[in-house]
Amino acid sequence: MSDNQLRLGVNIDHVATVRNARGGAYPDPLRAAKLAEEAGADGITAHLREDRRHISDADIDGLMEVLSVPLNFEMAATPEMQKIALRHKPHAVCIVPEKREERTTEGGLEVAREENKLAHFIAPLRDAGCRVSIFIAADQRQIEAAHRIGAEVIELHTGAYCDAVADGHVDAANRELEALREMSAFAYSLGLEVHAGHGLTYDTVQPIAAFPEVRELNIGHFLIGEAIFRGLTPAIAEMRRLMDEARG
Ligand code: PXP
Repeated sequence: MSDNQLRLGVNIDHVATVRNARGGAYPDPLRAAKLAEEAGADGITAHLREDRRHISDADIDGLMEVLSVPLNFEMAATPEMQKIALRHKPHAVCIVPEKREERTTEGGLEVAREENKLAHFIAPLRDAGCRVSIFIAADQRQIEAAHRIGAEVIELHTGAYCDAVADGHVDAANRELEALREMSAFAYSLGLEVHAGHGLTYDTVQPIAAFPEVRELNIGHFLIGEAIFRGLTPAIAEMRRLMDEARG
């Protein structure tokens, strides 16, 4: 892969959401992950939530066994999750905020106020060889704190930008995009690898994909939804095409 190419991480959580609606074995997130790989995903992302509402411990075991591309393991900063990550040693660990009552990951992690705690939390993960990523808002204070605690990667939360586009709030969308643009460049200037994700769709992906500092996008819910209509492979292929086109 050339330095300019943008990686696509496909998040398969919501295949597990549909499976768990009936409590059975299908649709199988592992099958989706293998298909995503074949369709051009550069990595698979899965979030083992504390309440196990979608991805299960067995899914993580299975993904570690079957994947040929890297697993990006999203998790809250809890002792339980740290233990699971240290057992599996996935390629990447992305630390996300998590509240049980929220529908999805609603904001970025508060790093600046939790620096010491998070520095201690991520140290063993780094020592185990995982690339540690911190999911944060496009906020200079949070980026500086992520850098200070020793994270190698930050993932910028694109949710507010995507929501503003969906609601037709053009000015707000432009403001969010500008903040993401500035903060991608700022994080890159500190030597951090920059990823982005949350809420991205065919309509919102290209402006973000065009930021030269961004190396990876993690996209899930929209792709799994789109797969209902056009199939998972074409849904991913179209996202890949839009990303490559934006990258020029
Ligand atoms: N990146 C992170 C850190 C996330 O928490 C999520 C949602 O699990 C995503 C990317 C993917 O977001 P979406 O499913 O909205 O594409």
